[in-house]
Amino acid sequence: MNNTKDLIAEILLNNRDTYMSGESISERLNISRASVWKHINSLKKEGFIIESKNGSGYKLLSTPEKNFLQYELLQKLNTKYIGRNIHYFETIDSTNSQAKKIADKSREGTLIVSDEQTKGRGRIGKTWISKHDEGLYFSLILKPDIPIIKANFITQVAGASIIKALKNLGISATIKWPNDIILNSKKICGILTEMVAEIDKISYIVVGIGINLKAKSFDKTIQSIASSLLNEGYTINKVDLLVEFLKEFEYFYNEFLNYNFKPCLDLLRNNSAVIGKDIYIINKDKKTKVHAIDIDDNANLLIRYENGKIDTIYTGEISIRGLDSYI
Ligand code: BTN
Repeated sequence: MNNTKDLIAEILLNNRDTYMSGESISERLNISRASVWKHINSLKKEGFIIESKNGSGYKLLSTPEKNFLQYELLQKLNTKYIGRNIHYFETIDSTNSQAKKIADKSREGTLIVSDEQTKGRGRIGKTWISKHDEGLYFSLILKPDIPIIKANFITQVAGASIIKALKNLGISATIKWPNDIILNSKKICGILTEMVAEIDKISYIVVGIGINLKAKSFDKTIQSIASSLLNEGYTINKVDLLVEFLKEFEYFYNEFLNYNFKPCLDLLRNNSAVIGKDIYIINKDKKTKVHAIDIDDNANLLIRYENGKIDTIYTGEISIRGLDSYI
């Protein structure tokens, strides 16, 4: 989005109680007044109720039901570039797959968000159930100029941003390294980070996030380990959560790009569901009991085996479990 029509919608949304003259809109966007008029008409066709008054200009009375998320988001968003370019879908196979299709031509921070996913993907080839309006499903396209070896940090930046966004809305969640967000010992959110790179340069990274908002029941195979914010007693406005996330992500991501990893690491360490605990590390069929010591400065997990040997675990095809619960 962010074409001229959407920019006009944004101006009207941000000035809901006043008339905006055609002249001020045309000056702000550097377009002709005829073009403003043309775009106002197409907004009206989309279901926007806009009052036009001679000598005063245009005033927005209401937004259409359809695309509500997109316009409410646009109105509330306060970031500079993260989430500013929005691709909104009522339904899509997977926001990550869609992001990968358009990544080459899209600018950094482009957001793909959908009310539903028909082929939502989780880590390690798993499915991410994404029923209509039961969750928040979105992906961001990133083009960081960083060494490939640092790419794993992006998942941590996303994790820290979710924890902080939830905190801003009064919810204390923890993170089960590397990418599960936990509330009351159950998973409420997952992160799927995918990268396309040449031998020494990242072409793009897609970070996809699924947050269970309203789901009441889960598949038998995951019902003991999964939950939703609603199940845990929280009713959250989807757009507010997304706005908070994008704001926090922009902050942590910018710091990361400036080689300041501390804000993110501090948050991860202070809100970890694993540090200081005995856990199982599961690699394919192999399950090893270890003690989680810390998250190191590269956001990898520092562990101690039962024989006392200390090791670093990198994000890969591994899973972590608590000794007698999910975590
Ligand atoms: C996991 O915990 O396994 C990661 C789940 C990631 C799910 C999100 S939902 C939005 C984005 N699109 C996808 O297909 N997957 C991610």
